[in-house]
Amino acid sequence: MNIVVLISGSGTNLQAIIEGIEAGEIDGRIVAVISNRPNVKGLERAQQHGIETLVLDHTQFESREAFDSVLQQQIEQYQPDLVVLAGFMRILTDAFVDHFKGRMLNIHPSLLPKYKGLNTHQRALDAHEAQHGCSVHFVSTELDSGAVIGHAKVDIERNDTAQSLSQKVQKQEHSLYPACVKLFCSKQIQLTPEGVLYAGTLL
Ligand code: GRF
Repeated sequence: MNIVVLISGSGTNLQAIIEGIEAGEIDGRIVAVISNRPNVKGLERAQQHGIETLVLDHTQFESREAFDSVLQQQIEQYQPDLVVLAGFMRILTDAFVDHFKGRMLNIHPSLLPKYKGLNTHQRALDAHEAQHGCSVHFVSTELDSGAVIGHAKVDIERNDTAQSLSQKVQKQEHSLYPACVKLFCSKQIQLTPEGVLYAGTLL
């Protein structure tokens, strides 16, 4: 499967997926990494593994629609089977999301449906949750609301801060995301109108 990864920053999830591919775990290859920000660490990581990179700076576009339309064209030139959002910090237009429906994944640092949006770690602490974590989901037009493929949980300890929690959750992200990409690439999961179908069963 051909995969295009979209990033905005450090790219540690990208790194975990690259490693999953290089280890032969994921039956796919990353055909391009596209960043909406120049000079980010994730671009370097891709280049170090011989992966083509592209920067599409959103500040150079007049509107969200204009940016998304060019982004869509750029992605499509690689004919991807899967688009992976890995720390891509942009809200996407409905037209863009609909175009890649069923073949675009995102990772979110909370146990969805809890804590959609930003500052998830602090919000989980403020709510005195016993557990927190991350979720991989198919992207839908409503933010952080697509069908969930998998969760990874961490226990919240008494002395946890937003920073310590974020580190614990990120560690889980680096196993969960490659595992979910692997499921997609081996055609074990698919998005249906009822939800995610895994081996004939709805998740
Ligand atoms: C991750 O924590 C992810 O949950 C969030 O953005 C962060 C990306 O980190 N959406 P990285 O760029 O993969 O290091």
